[in-house]
Amino acid sequence: MKHEIKRTAGYANRQYFLNAYKTGQHGWAAEGPDPYAVELLERVRPLVPGGSLLDIGCGQGRHAIAAARLGFKVTAIDYEPLALERARRWADEKGVKGIVFKTADVFHLPFSDSQFDIVFDYGCFHHQKKSSHNAYKKSISRVLKKEGLFILSVFSPAFRLFNKGARRKWHIAQGAYRRFFTSEDIEEIFARRFEILELKEEKGGDGGFWHALMRHRA
Ligand SMILES: C[S@@+](CC[C@H](N)C(=O)[O-])C[C@H]1O[C@@H](n2cnc3c(N)ncnc32)[C@H](O)[C@@H]1O
Repeated sequence: MKHEIKRTAGYANRQYFLNAYKTGQHGWAAEGPDPYAVELLERVRPLVPGGSLLDIGCGQGRHAIAAARLGFKVTAIDYEPLALERARRWADEKGVKGIVFKTADVFHLPFSDSQFDIVFDYGCFHHQKKSSHNAYKKSISRVLKKEGLFILSVFSPAFRLFNKGARRKWHIAQGAYRRFFTSEDIEEIFARRFEILELKEEKGGDGGFWHALMRHRA
């Protein structure tokens, strides 16, 4: 398959991700899931046994595969088809069946209203510009059931690219937009639509991430 990108809004971001997947030059792990995210999924599993989970910006599928192994019914989207080709192959190679991988943009999710018990985002939201935050919330809120869970992992100021928060909140490198969040930012952005049940900061190693568990307000 030929991988090309149309010059529409967000072109530079998309070009960055395409190159990242073509070259393997990216800062996030290709395969193993983040243990914090897996631990969170394990803990929510009893609340929605066998529940439906949408992984947005799933990349090469490492968290979608982990979630399917825990028994969730997983749908996983990314706008980069090359990442999804790998995700499908890795799921096959690992014998993990039943994940629906779909090419889609988080701002135009091709799903019904209230379709999912859980929306899961590891590292997609922090690549969206501030001007898109409302559209992002609207999009995920539409497909998430009322009282459904939203699991979000985003850069904190401690992430290595932000020099402990001394740099401004966002920058663009190789075309990729990246933003870090404080706990107050997360409250401010999400608290109206979501009850924040848990917000934990992972530091050290490749850390500098917030892991948030939220419940969609009824
Ligand atoms: C930092 S990577 C994380 C990938 C994956 N979640 C993981 O943990 O390995 C961010 C992913 O979000 C995807 N992405 C960014 N903006 C997107 C959008 N608007 N719609 C769909 N996918 C998007 C990128 O293609 C990329 O695969």
